[in-house]
Amino acid sequence: MKNGLERIRLLCLRDKVMSAEQAIEFIQHGAVVGLSGFGGAGEAKSVPLALADHAQQHPLKITLVTGASLGNKIDGRLSAVHAIQRRYPYQADPDLRKAINAGEVMYIDQHLSELADNIRHHNLPRINVAIIAATAISEDGLIIPTGSCGNSANFIEMAEQIIIEIDQTINPVLEGVHDVYVPKARPNRGPIPLTQAGDRIGTTGIRVDPEKISAIVLNEIPDTSFQMDEPDDDTLSIAQHLIQFFEHEVATGRLPENLGPLQSGVGSIANAVFSGFAHSNFNHLEMYSEVLQDCTFELIDSGKMSFASGCSMTLSDACTKHVMENFEKYKDKIVLRPQEISNHPELIRRLGIIAINTALEFDIYGNVNSTHVAGSKMMNGIGGSGDFTRHAHLAIFVTKSIAKGGDISSVVPMVSHTDHTDHDIDILVTEQGLADLRGLAPRERARQIIDHCAHPSYRAALNDYFDRACDQGGHTPHILQEALSWHANFEELGHMQQMA
Ligand code: COA
Repeated sequence: MKNGLERIRLLCLRDKVMSAEQAIEFIQHGAVVGLSGFGGAGEAKSVPLALADHAQQHPLKITLVTGASLGNKIDGRLSAVHAIQRRYPYQADPDLRKAINAGEVMYIDQHLSELADNIRHHNLPRINVAIIAATAISEDGLIIPTGSCGNSANFIEMAEQIIIEIDQTINPVLEGVHDVYVPKARPNRGPIPLTQAGDRIGTTGIRVDPEKISAIVLNEIPDTSFQMDEPDDDTLSIAQHLIQFFEHEVATGRLPENLGPLQSGVGSIANAVFSGFAHSNFNHLEMYSEVLQDCTFELIDSGKMSFASGCSMTLSDACTKHVMENFEKYKDKIVLRPQEISNHPELIRRLGIIAINTALEFDIYGNVNSTHVAGSKMMNGIGGSGDFTRHAHLAIFVTKSIAKGGDISSVVPMVSHTDHTDHDIDILVTEQGLADLRGLAPRERARQIIDHCAHPSYRAALNDYFDRACDQGGHTPHILQEALSWHANFEELGHMQQMA
């Protein structure tokens, strides 16, 4: 039997196996393509990469819809051949970023929890072709997802036709880790029956109408490996400030001893913060998050974390090997859910999640910019940070107080773009300290933020701005002519330092 065919356990589907080059025939110019994948894990690979090769000779454009960012440079390869016309809901590829900022690709940066419902209720165009990576197809025709669930269940439900990529690089031990729950379309929707981070409420695979499957491709390209930067002095300080804050909250009785379910953003700062828990006195920690990184498994190994619920596993090669070889140990401690459920506002509010995400910059009143450099240039996108921040029990943002060797202050008079408003933010942390904004009015928030979070080299200039703004009056005092001058200085002079 051809390698990989044994993973197609519904035998009648084996006749649909073909090469990636044959499968791209189903993708027409102008198609809306729904691709599996979230955070660089579990994307379909052979078919989109074959499409990129094909588009080099035979130009075409598609709308590309995913769970979130893709690995294997798929966004980069497709944008290099100008094959992406529209893209949503999230990306993190440097080449696609250039095409977006050049105005070539129309990018719709969306809350990740919302996309499935927008497709279900036809607020967005119909998915013409879904290309979905699968670990296997079960005897009863369930599509078993891979290292991510993303939006695959929704794409399979809503697409006109489906291409399945059987991913032979995914260890079959993963089967059983997924919990696929699909909310009903309104007006027939009830509450989502999940009350604990570890609850299972769905099926271990995605139901599909076999008639809609046009092609099955056997993929041998592995997921991208993610190597996190080692924590540095700044990220370690951020982690320490947060751990001390949590200890204080437990001591005052405001948080339970295990803190309640935690959500963490992606990236090196978030990774360092979570690694910080390994050296803390906290036990029985739980995650109800989006991406499970290496640090999740380190915390499970050290006995600090009892359970982790996510939508995807974005791991280094070494961690993937360790997790797969020891999967028996983890299988009752993790679950992967569709992003509609991992990021659902109803559940985030019900579970009382502590959300920790990373800012590019925040202002003296606590508005946060996670997406746009100098107000105009897209970095990655809002991802799930808005889903979690708005509905969290405690909404926390972390960042280093300066960027680009000190030429940029991450604490500014006014953010150049707002992703998370001051209404949503409880706690801000830099390596300088932690600002607790709960119950504070804007003028009080400014004092906390400047004193605790700003870098010393920018503190005097921020105080000077704030004092002069207060002289002009107002509930949230600003000097409009000056509010964005720090960014304008950076654009013109290459630094934000204020001249005396
Ligand atoms: N202005 C301009 N550039 C800035 C900046 C600022 N205020 N602050 C940081 N940067 C630059 C850094 O210098 C770095 O640039 P480089 O890639 O050229 O080195 C880059 O932004 C990334 O910063 P870094 O400090 O390495 O942080 P990170 O890798 O943790 O990424 C975000 C930070 C905000 C870009 C990232 O967390 C993100 O995209 N967040 C939004 C989505 C999200 O929150 N997802 C998870 C939700 S569940």
